[in-house]
Amino acid sequence: MNKEIEARKNVAVKACKQVGGILISSFGRKVTVTSKGDRDLVTNIDKQVEKTIISLIKKHFPQDGIVSEESPDAPTRSGFRWIIDPIDGTHNFIHNIEIFGTSVALEFKGEVLLGIINMPWSDELYIAQRGKGAYRNGRKISVSKKKMEEATMIYDSSIRMHKNKMLKGLGRLTDKVFNVRMFGSTVRSLTYVAEGKAEMEIEFCDKVWDFAAGLLLVEEAQGKATDFSGRPWNIHTRGYIASNGIVHQGVLDVIKSLRPR
Ligand code: IPD
Ligand code: CA
Ligand code: CA
Repeated sequence: MNKEIEARKNVAVKACKQVGGILISSFGRKVTVTSKGDRDLVTNIDKQVEKTIISLIKKHFPQDGIVSEESPDAPTRSGFRWIIDPIDGTHNFIHNIEIFGTSVALEFKGEVLLGIINMPWSDELYIAQRGKGAYRNGRKISVSKKKMEEATMIYDSSIRMHKNKMLKGLGRLTDKVFNVRMFGSTVRSLTYVAEGKAEMEIEFCDKVWDFAAGLLLVEEAQGKATDFSGRPWNIHTRGYIASNGIVHQGVLDVIKSLRPR
């Protein structure tokens, strides 16, 4: 099993680096934008990056399944399934804001084993492997030891989705933490928690491709990630809290009653 995971990690890293080049060369240039729904946009670059990653994976592991944001699912025949977000932070990308990245995770029988996040603009490659730690550009990372009153809280920027509950949570937590940030990119937020630049990230309705790699990264960096009831996260989770562990219960106490129905 270890060999199988290692082989997949190498291909995922190669794919992330390759598409990092595409993202950098197309950033700030004219892209084709299409609407997927209410204030939900996708570009031709999301699709090009996704196609590049999927073809590389299929070439090496044709039996593996794929769940990717902009494509139909492909079932698994090997037990392994890839979970891909070609650009996390598409709206930033469209607005020429450098906060975006690519997320590739590997799941086996419901358990996420591997998470790779590439932030091409800052040239940061994050790798998490279950039981083997979290790394940025080859150096081990870990969460901070800050308490609630010193904490930087990163909050879901899609306030419109569950406006009343999300604003209630924001209002209550603002009184407890040191300061608040919203980045519009889950992978950016989770990498910051994992490397101790922020103490918590709260999202109300993400999809598995948004968080699979990032939540594993936080856990492997000795942090904690649960749903709004405090249960371990899984591939079906939508709302979650990822933290340095120290502030976790304090956030849960505020947020648990705000779970979207
Ligand atoms: C979005 C971003 C955003 C989060 C949304 C995601 P996308 O991903 O990560 O921060 O709040 O829930 O859908 O659409 O840029 O890949
Ligand atoms: Ca995303
Ligand atoms: Ca995306």
